[in-house]
Amino acid sequence: MDFKQQVIDAITAVLGDELPKEQVAKLIETPKSNDLGDYAFPTFALAKTRHMAPVKIAAELAPQIDAANFDKVVATGAYVNFFLAKTTFAKQVLAEIAAKGADYGQQELGHGNVPIDMSSPNIAKPMSMGHLRSTVIGNSIAKILTKIGYTPIKINHLGDWGTQFGKLIVAYKLWGSEAAVKADPIKNLLEYYVRFHTEAETKPELDDEARAWFKKLEDGDEEATHLWSWFRAESLKEFKRIYDILGVEFDSFNGEAFYNDKMDKVTDELEAKGLLQESRGAEIVDLSKYDLNPALIRKSDGATLYMTRDLAAAFYRHDHYDFKQSLYVVGMEQTEHFKQLKAVIKEMGYDWADDIHHIPFGLITANGKKLSTRKGNVILLEKVLGEAVDLAKEQIAEKHPDLKNADEVAEAVGVGAVVFHDLKNERIDQFDFNLEEVVRFEGETGPYVQYTNARANSILAKATAEFDVAADASVTLDDANAWPVLKQLGAFPDVIARAAKEYEPSVIAKYALKLAKTFNQYYAHTKVAVQDAQLPARLALVQSVSTVLTESLNLLGVKAPKEM
Ligand code: ARG
Repeated sequence: MDFKQQVIDAITAVLGDELPKEQVAKLIETPKSNDLGDYAFPTFALAKTRHMAPVKIAAELAPQIDAANFDKVVATGAYVNFFLAKTTFAKQVLAEIAAKGADYGQQELGHGNVPIDMSSPNIAKPMSMGHLRSTVIGNSIAKILTKIGYTPIKINHLGDWGTQFGKLIVAYKLWGSEAAVKADPIKNLLEYYVRFHTEAETKPELDDEARAWFKKLEDGDEEATHLWSWFRAESLKEFKRIYDILGVEFDSFNGEAFYNDKMDKVTDELEAKGLLQESRGAEIVDLSKYDLNPALIRKSDGATLYMTRDLAAAFYRHDHYDFKQSLYVVGMEQTEHFKQLKAVIKEMGYDWADDIHHIPFGLITANGKKLSTRKGNVILLEKVLGEAVDLAKEQIAEKHPDLKNADEVAEAVGVGAVVFHDLKNERIDQFDFNLEEVVRFEGETGPYVQYTNARANSILAKATAEFDVAADASVTLDDANAWPVLKQLGAFPDVIARAAKEYEPSVIAKYALKLAKTFNQYYAHTKVAVQDAQLPARLALVQSVSTVLTESLNLLGVKAPKEM
């Protein structure tokens, strides 16, 4: 069932070779208001060849079009407007959703591996709101890409290497304890690290010791390696607690350290290709022809850099996964870095650099101010999520005091609220985080969508219990109030395609909000649970709304409780 295709076919049947099919497809618009029909074809493109005013062309074209599949086809100004055959549309959309269930919207727009670099927090430091954004945006993009045929590979490129580990080892040996790290790893490791910096201000010999320990670590010293891998494991355990709460899983935890033995190959190749230049003791790749700052490849002390690891990682992913695209869901402050990464690979002569995409996103602010994870202003994610769950609990207790699995539902609603709020804005937009706003059951929130879905489910459960819901296949839904809902339902596959093309989960979130709103308007005007011939068709509509809302939320990584 493709209604847009029917419109395209009807137009090309008249135009023949005058305008290629693909061009017709590109020109088709969706009118702003239902009064103007469901699809519109602008005639401006024909004005040149026909030497006629677009208004005249539209008037001439409209009556020539075979309207058998439509309620009507009319000219309005320079447009030919198509009104879909509502009862046929209703029947087809509801039948398709009933048949496919959660698979509705699944399509084959691509295939092959797509590594997604996402989350990627730093060991021994708290996960920031930026890491949360990367986690939930990356997770949703992975689900959306799966829905159009790709195989995403979720990679957590942990910040698990660097000179800070020398400092951490020194600090731990001086002031740390195994019990403290085990009890609260990130809090205590961060404390040692902060204390190291304070004390090093008056005791510069600490910095020398840290350098020496990092050197030992690089050389594979047993004690250093043991401490490093223990810090890493303890931190990861804590990160995993948050991933569990969010329901996010990874396919790989290959972080920066994984590339320790894979960088020489890259630097050797850069050298062999004559791309490395000396600049103030460091080695760089000049990127002035790309209008970019030089990429720093090696420091004067021979230490490799963030860029060099990312180069090694890009090559590894290319060789290992044979990717179709390679994505990096990382904050917009690293835009230059990823431009440089692509440019260096391009300079090395590899066209697959064009398949690398940085998926940037904006900052989260609180009262307009940047949230920082440095020093004091540490917002612990778990705390935010916990508070959201508490708020959800309060509201559920009010709305549904006898709900059996209230704790489980509160968890889904509270966590879902934070995730949904993150995803409903365009990625790149900076947005403010106000917990009370986020967890509200009304307005443009995740709980509003979840609540609408739960409501649809309770309508279904009640009606099925109280009425005879056996369907008569000859009866179709011809209720004008239902039309906007049906159209929304029919648009879901296109919405998924657009979200995938733009790597933009907000397209799905906005769609879910609109579907929920449209359904609530329908429900406010139409009595669903009345015993008449159209009852089964109305219930099929309600069931379809629930199926599509549930799947929309699923694509965002948000749960959809049946009751709340
Ligand atoms: N660990 C880095 C940070 O917290 C993010 C890493 C992003 N991924 C990458 N391949 N560079 O800023």
